[in-house]
Amino acid sequence: MERLVLGIDVGTSSIKSLAVNDRGKIIASASSPLTIQHAYPGYSEQNPDEWVSVTIETMNNVINNLKQNHSDFEINGISFSGQMHGLIVLDNEYKVIRPAILWNDTRSTAQCEMIKSRLGEIVLGNPVLEGFTLTKLMWLKQHEPAHWSKTKVFLLPKDYVRFKLTGAINMELSDASSTLLLDPSTNEWSEDVGRQFGITNIYPPLVTSDTQVGFLKQSIAEKLGISNKVAVFAGGGDNACGAIGAGVIEPNQSLCSIGTSGVILSCESKQDAEYGNNIHMFKHAVNNLSYAMGVTLSAGYSLNWFKNQCAQNDSFDELMSYAEQSKIGAQGLIFAPYLAGERTPHGDANIRGSFIGLSGMHSLGDMARAVVEGVTYSLYESIAYLRTQGKQINEVVAIGGGAKSEFWLQLQADIFNAKVYKLKHEEGPSMGAAMIAATGLKWYEDIGACVEQFIHKEQVFEPNKERHVAYQSYFEVYKAVYNQTQPLTKKLVELTKQSTHN
Ligand code: XUL
Repeated sequence: MERLVLGIDVGTSSIKSLAVNDRGKIIASASSPLTIQHAYPGYSEQNPDEWVSVTIETMNNVINNLKQNHSDFEINGISFSGQMHGLIVLDNEYKVIRPAILWNDTRSTAQCEMIKSRLGEIVLGNPVLEGFTLTKLMWLKQHEPAHWSKTKVFLLPKDYVRFKLTGAINMELSDASSTLLLDPSTNEWSEDVGRQFGITNIYPPLVTSDTQVGFLKQSIAEKLGISNKVAVFAGGGDNACGAIGAGVIEPNQSLCSIGTSGVILSCESKQDAEYGNNIHMFKHAVNNLSYAMGVTLSAGYSLNWFKNQCAQNDSFDELMSYAEQSKIGAQGLIFAPYLAGERTPHGDANIRGSFIGLSGMHSLGDMARAVVEGVTYSLYESIAYLRTQGKQINEVVAIGGGAKSEFWLQLQADIFNAKVYKLKHEEGPSMGAAMIAATGLKWYEDIGACVEQFIHKEQVFEPNKERHVAYQSYFEVYKAVYNQTQPLTKKLVELTKQSTHN
């Protein structure tokens, strides 16, 4: 009998279910897309019940695949990873009141300003940003009083899906710490902060990531054709689960994830650390551990955009080989990746990107290299800042699209001045969720023992000192671009909002 766990990642563009055996081998996986609604500029919403039906669809696909290809298996546990920060509000009967307001929805700038004017730039260890849940609750209270008055409890995306699969209402700590409402030193709701803005009595009970919240509902198990009882564990936010799935689970271990957005994450044992400069401080999905995180909103997105606009007929591999043929500094060309505003170190929804230094001699390869370098400089800004605050970042595990090219991996090592590791197999946050279930079932003594069995490094990219020094001079110019272009791009954003001409 093969013992299996399911790791389910409730993402923004899709949901993925992964079946893994007790030795960390992937046995089956399935993913299905989600729809997303942008009713007005800056609005980003999803239907929470679509998450539930798509989750069940991917579980069903995985189980059908298992039934066809494996004679004897049993699913023993399930856990979840999920997009963070998104607001779901439920009424007295635990029904969804309105669509979920997602992490990338920026309608709540006025609420951010209100929080900052009352409590300052940093609240409970975190910068005050439109993405975070408190600002969305305040928007709801102000703009949709009828919905607000019906609200019995609020949840975050994967916590809602887990509720629908088990019937148990709770919120897990790694995600709860991303709401601007969790006190990081006590791991309890800071009702003090909520009370300041009239947000009381709607808090769900808190649980740790490894808590078994219940079992898969009988009705769903029957629909899926599962006969045994399946234990369900709370899980974690997608960045925390991505870190577990990359083996980043101890103080000072660090991760660089380059997907649509990019993340630098570094583990931290101090529970109430505070770094400023728009560094986020969230709880890890490993008990008693937190992480400091810097976010580049348009990381892989920048390269995608560039390829779509300028190199449609080239593959990514071709584009990267042109970039490699250019030189450090892209022949004097700098790209600032602020295509959709920025989070770290500049929490600025209105900044826009730029190429600086463009001349008639620049080629497609120089421009592609400038994009890759600019995205990496942006992530390096978080590393460099955290180092000035005493954090040791000497080794970084790279995941996501940025870890698919050896050229980009070496460029990360040279710019970061750190060893960069590539993993043998990379499955992302759903693997971290599966590992939470495997550890929750006591297949492993702790998450460290599970990492040892499940996660393997394949290759290390050593930093080259000379190249680091050369990049450092361009990085100094890159850092100046934000302040120099900020008033110009702000004006341009205003003009395009006002413009009624064709
Ligand atoms: C983290 C963040 C995103 C979402 C989307 O602060 O906003 O990584 O979790 O996946």
